[in-house]
Amino acid sequence: MTKIIIYDFKDFEKMRYLYFDCFKGQLSLDSDDVGAMKSRVDELAIGRLGAERYIQTIRKKNGKAVLGFFTGGTSEPIYAALTKAYENKKVSFQDVVTFNMDEYDGLAPLHEQSYRRFMKEQLFNHVDIDDRNTHFPDHENGNILQDGEYDEMILKAGDIDRQGGGIGPNAHMAFVEPRDLYYVVMNPDYLVTGRRKLTEETRRANSRFFENIDSVPHYAYTMGLHTLMKSKALDIYAFGPHKAAAIKKSVEDPISFDVPASFVQEHDNSTFILDIAAASNLDPKKLDKNKSIGNVEIYYDVDDEILLAAMNEIFKKD
Ligand code: PGA
Repeated sequence: MTKIIIYDFKDFEKMRYLYFDCFKGQLSLDSDDVGAMKSRVDELAIGRLGAERYIQTIRKKNGKAVLGFFTGGTSEPIYAALTKAYENKKVSFQDVVTFNMDEYDGLAPLHEQSYRRFMKEQLFNHVDIDDRNTHFPDHENGNILQDGEYDEMILKAGDIDRQGGGIGPNAHMAFVEPRDLYYVVMNPDYLVTGRRKLTEETRRANSRFFENIDSVPHYAYTMGLHTLMKSKALDIYAFGPHKAAAIKKSVEDPISFDVPASFVQEHDNSTFILDIAAASNLDPKKLDKNKSIGNVEIYYDVDDEILLAAMNEIFKKD
């Protein structure tokens, strides 16, 4: 049963009140600022919600949880909130084991855009995690992993207790790219973890992080759909209007390999966690009718700490 959590901060009066308290009216607050602040507040709040979900899993497993991590812009507020929780002694990663969902092929481990580097900068360098407990799907102790070997490592670790993920504009999860059924029948390894070719659409979308499109790798190591679906809990996060079409297809369409994230519908402990922009194309009537999609929760509450963090970010240029 898939659940959908939509986060939509609406308390603009509170935002204005805090703003004047904070900046004493020295800066003017125009509607662009309010819009930017609203989406940043939504992101920060979802980041904290995401961190809370991982922390609950760690607690439930008495510290020894197996967590599936992801990378990309969507994940950043989650790792910021996890770092803060660690600093406030609310969580320890000492006995946590992690499996990241993907890694580019052909980038040096500390290349600016490698996902190992991303994880170190966003989380691992700031918390008490043991490096030996962190895993990536391209190699382990210097050995290149063959198709399915990462899945065996995950199985040995006791399976992933909670897997987080983003979604691409083409509805990919990790680097599981859209394919037709014939391709999957002829290439069953597509379903497990291994080295896979990226679509041009994904290379283009990710070129924003590289010097130019030519420097974006053509291949990446990624968990497969089977790997992702085997996790005990699966959380898919999306922010922003550019994700709305992919979310609509993933939530409302029948499941298909053309829309990899549509498989989330069939996972019995899965959640789409969205801001209002990413949820904006969903058809409320369909959500009510289609029992397999499950319940929808809408959150509004946010505390001053999140509001202030968003304000400081939006206005730090001044
Ligand atoms: P993003 O990437 O979080 O940087 O938007 C998500 C994805 O492509 O899976």
